Amino acid sequence: MPFEKRTHTGFAPGKLILTGEHSVVYGYPAIAIPVNLGVTVTLSSTHGGSYFRTPDARLESILLPFLPTSGVAVSIHSTLPMGKGMGSSAALSVALVRALASWEGKTSDFSTEYEIGMSIEKQFHGNPSGVDHTVSALGKMVFYTKKASGPEITPMQNPPLELLVVDSGEMGNTATMVEHVAKQYKESPETTKEILKNIGDITQTIHEKLLCPILDLPSLGACFTQNHEQLRNLGLSTPAIESIITYISTHGGYGAKLSGSGGGGVVMALIDSPAQHVPTLAEMGYTAYVIHPFVPTA
Ligand code: MEV
Repeated sequence: MPFEKRTHTGFAPGKLILTGEHSVVYGYPAIAIPVNLGVTVTLSSTHGGSYFRTPDARLESILLPFLPTSGVAVSIHSTLPMGKGMGSSAALSVALVRALASWEGKTSDFSTEYEIGMSIEKQFHGNPSGVDHTVSALGKMVFYTKKASGPEITPMQNPPLELLVVDSGEMGNTATMVEHVAKQYKESPETTKEILKNIGDITQTIHEKLLCPILDLPSLGACFTQNHEQLRNLGLSTPAIESIITYISTHGGYGAKLSGSGGGGVVMALIDSPAQHVPTLAEMGYTAYVIHPFVPTA
């Protein structure tokens, strides 16, 4: 058969957890938005066995079983900071599912993206709630609750939020941080339960605020800061994260919190004119992004 050169791509956005990281693992709701940065997976035809064009051997060993055994070379391009709490592995999973569907002349659906996304996320992160790849696949803000019977997913309209996201420069390892909270839960159940419940209450308040047609930024920001204090009490903050939080509060920010697993990763902040802070933060050694909810093109 003549060699047919083909190229197919799939894209999926990353995410930011506005509230409820970690408590979502314990059955409380989380709210997350898809963001204007994401992952593109490109499949092209090749002679011989399928492979990933990446130096990351772990990533290749997790994802290779999802490819046809031969004929496909995979390239990954990400505008998201990788491993920093913005859902890069979830976006990669969903983008791969989309690229593979296109390769087969199909369009992928949410349930396939959810199922395959979950099985890939389990290999990357151990015991994920599923919120990351749900948001990535839906491209909409979600109110997400993990239940024994399956997730309860309520899509919401993306809010008109512009956020300053600052990379602490440290990698946040989701599996390790989820394990860290589980250990605390075992060692100090009463304190840990109370913190998780506090985060659950804050999430309900943030949910109500996000449903208002005009966002009350000062009170929303105050909720983010309260959420951060609870995450700090769980031991998930770091000196770099705290120095970014201090920068935001001393520069007129409405509020800020770590977003994602913590132990590194990013801080998201609600602050006027976020772009103005990007150069100053760069001088301090931090890469910052102006983030807004993902807008689907089609
Ligand atoms: C990671 O993005 C969010 C966590 O809540 C873990 C999870 O939900 O799977 C820390």
